[in-house]
Amino acid sequence: MGIVLGLDVGTSGTKAIAINEHGDLLASALVEYPLHSPRPNWAEQDPADWVRASYEALAALASKIDTSAVKGLGLTGQMHGSVFLDARNRVLRPALLWCDQRTAAQCEAITQKVGEKRLIEMVSNPALAGFTAPKILWLRDEEPQHFEQVKKVLLPKDYIRFMLTDEYATDVADASGTLLFDVKNRTWHRELMSMLGIDADWMPRAFEGPEVTGTLSKDAAARTGLPAGIPVIAGGGDQAANGVGCGIVRPGVISASLGTSGVVFAFADQVRTDPEGRVHTFCHSVPGKWHVMGVMLSAGGSLRWFRDAVCQPERAVAQETGRDPYEYITEEAGRIPAGAEGLLFLPYLTGERTPHKDPYAKGAFIGLSLRHTKAHLARAVLEGVSYGMRDSLEIIRAMKVAVGEVRVSGGGARSRIWRQMLADTGNAPMVRINVEEGPAYGAAILASVAAGLHANVEQACDAMIHEVDRTAPDEDAMGLYNRWFYEYQAAYTALAPGFKRQAALL
Ligand code: XUL
Repeated sequence: MGIVLGLDVGTSGTKAIAINEHGDLLASALVEYPLHSPRPNWAEQDPADWVRASYEALAALASKIDTSAVKGLGLTGQMHGSVFLDARNRVLRPALLWCDQRTAAQCEAITQKVGEKRLIEMVSNPALAGFTAPKILWLRDEEPQHFEQVKKVLLPKDYIRFMLTDEYATDVADASGTLLFDVKNRTWHRELMSMLGIDADWMPRAFEGPEVTGTLSKDAAARTGLPAGIPVIAGGGDQAANGVGCGIVRPGVISASLGTSGVVFAFADQVRTDPEGRVHTFCHSVPGKWHVMGVMLSAGGSLRWFRDAVCQPERAVAQETGRDPYEYITEEAGRIPAGAEGLLFLPYLTGERTPHKDPYAKGAFIGLSLRHTKAHLARAVLEGVSYGMRDSLEIIRAMKVAVGEVRVSGGGARSRIWRQMLADTGNAPMVRINVEEGPAYGAAILASVAAGLHANVEQACDAMIHEVDRTAPDEDAMGLYNRWFYEYQAAYTALAPGFKRQAALL
């Protein structure tokens, strides 16, 4: 039997899983860490926390499996984050994360210097606040004492790769989210780097998803209990790896994942870009293929905020009964009619990427009246996030990317009520699959291909992934949501100028 491992350096924690060649889950481990927000709009983590969590999670796996059967380890993780290293590989400051919105000025500077259209031609994407390039320029502008010392810039999982293998490397999907990668030709964009004053040597070599980038070092082996010499596979940014883990490896099937962020992800045979840059166009972890995706910054994150800020009683009951507080919250929401009796929620708690590209956007409840209860608020939050996912679906449909069924994943997909809302607002069936391990599973699949357990990524997915259930849209609810979707979109348009003014006041 062959065992492959997947390691996902996520935002709330690092998850490690072990599967066999049939895709059966043999073991998993999760180690959590905090996210720091030292100022409004800032989001940082200490890379040392990721390192500790990765060692601990891998050690927990090693204690549960036959380590002599391990054929490879695939890496994945939160995208766009920046780990700045000096000449002695020391971390210069906490990493700026994908959801950090401090770089609005640097994004404007990049767009002015290169031109929005030219930028999309070069790297297939516009400058967005969460991407890596503006973070590097922020360091130059705001912390020159650190900038002067930079010798390498690594993405989160690639810093872990370095700690595991002593090699600098990344994969083409994660590299695509730096804004410095020629997505069409799957290589670093040296011309753009030189225009922006970014040293090309700072970026690591980029590999295709199932390629081997190095082997587990003796030191990492001693810390994890895994054998030294295990091949470590390029893997992918968490969205591409999740795409693989959901079987989004051929045209027509797309996925919607509801984690902290909300992502609508579609496979693409060729490079397809939205001329307005509202969805991202990145390399896929399937060699030679691409994907387009719409990213909401606060999807599950909106519901988590609601749980923490408003639902203390539900949390207390959940603790007593041993149930998940989200079950109570979504059940309450399920008792309210579709449309929440006119209450709308804008889910822009941390600004928004798709469709607005607006770091100043904020959350809002609109249409409150005396009639509304906490359950209405809960329903409005779920519906607001669902409308946000529909925004991405609409853009992808308009790009002539086929949207057949939508495979739902992430914590939000566990709720039957939310799946129905997604089907009704999105006008598409929502399908659940047997796999719930998300990006870590995709990384393990890529490792299984590298290890020769499967001929290619498509065949590996066919062998391991199948449908479990399907939620069809309800005609009546669809009609109602079509009308309120228009109001949802109009609400942002009306409020956007205020968001920008208010940011200046803050
Ligand atoms: C993708 C993105 C997020 C993070 C979250 O572009 O920013 O999905 O990768 O983990």
